[in-house]
Amino acid sequence: MTEGRSHLHDLARDPRRAHATAGGHAVSAAGWLDAHFEACRPEYEAILGGVGIEPGWRVLDAGCGGGNFLPRLAGLVGPTGAVAAVDLAPDNVAAVRARLAALALPCPVEVGVGSLLRLPYPDAHFDAAWCANVLMYLTDDELPAALAELRRVVRLGA
Ligand SMILES: C[S@@+](CC[C@H](N)C(=O)[O-])C[C@H]1O[C@@H](n2cnc3c(N)ncnc32)[C@H](O)[C@@H]1O
Repeated sequence: MTEGRSHLHDLARDPRRAHATAGGHAVSAAGWLDAHFEACRPEYEAILGGVGIEPGWRVLDAGCGGGNFLPRLAGLVGPTGAVAAVDLAPDNVAAVRARLAALALPCPVEVGVGSLLRLPYPDAHFDAAWCANVLMYLTDDELPAALAELRRVVRLGA
């Protein structure tokens, strides 16, 4: 990465605007993310199933995109758990809300617009944070701030 701009940020400025969100992040529109997720579903579900998320936990999906990880996250925490999802792109958040309305997930799942750079949650609010395919959009200056935010909202010892 160079001079405060990530490669994917520059790609989003390409006239082709490859599957960009309204916020300008390339290859991030919900329909495109669906295709990517389905192509990688076995690997993603294996990784998610192996990170140690436990029943009853409260988990954040940071940069949830179209919400493809939310059903599996809800299944892992189960009826005594809860999932929150946040994304910078209002169009992706709207897509997730529509999708959630059509699903019967085993736990509450709330989604809202927000940034990894200032997560709208108190300290130690979550037992775990999941963040897939997002950090590469951040600049060199933004990355440490986002990692600090993810650490801040997860309880010590998790
Ligand atoms: C490639 S998509 C990945 C979405 C999802 N995690 C997945 O793997 O299917 C990247 C997402 O990160 C979001 N994003 C980019 N920068 C963000 C930031 N600073 N805070 C929150 N979300 C961000 C974009 O809006 C987009 O929905």
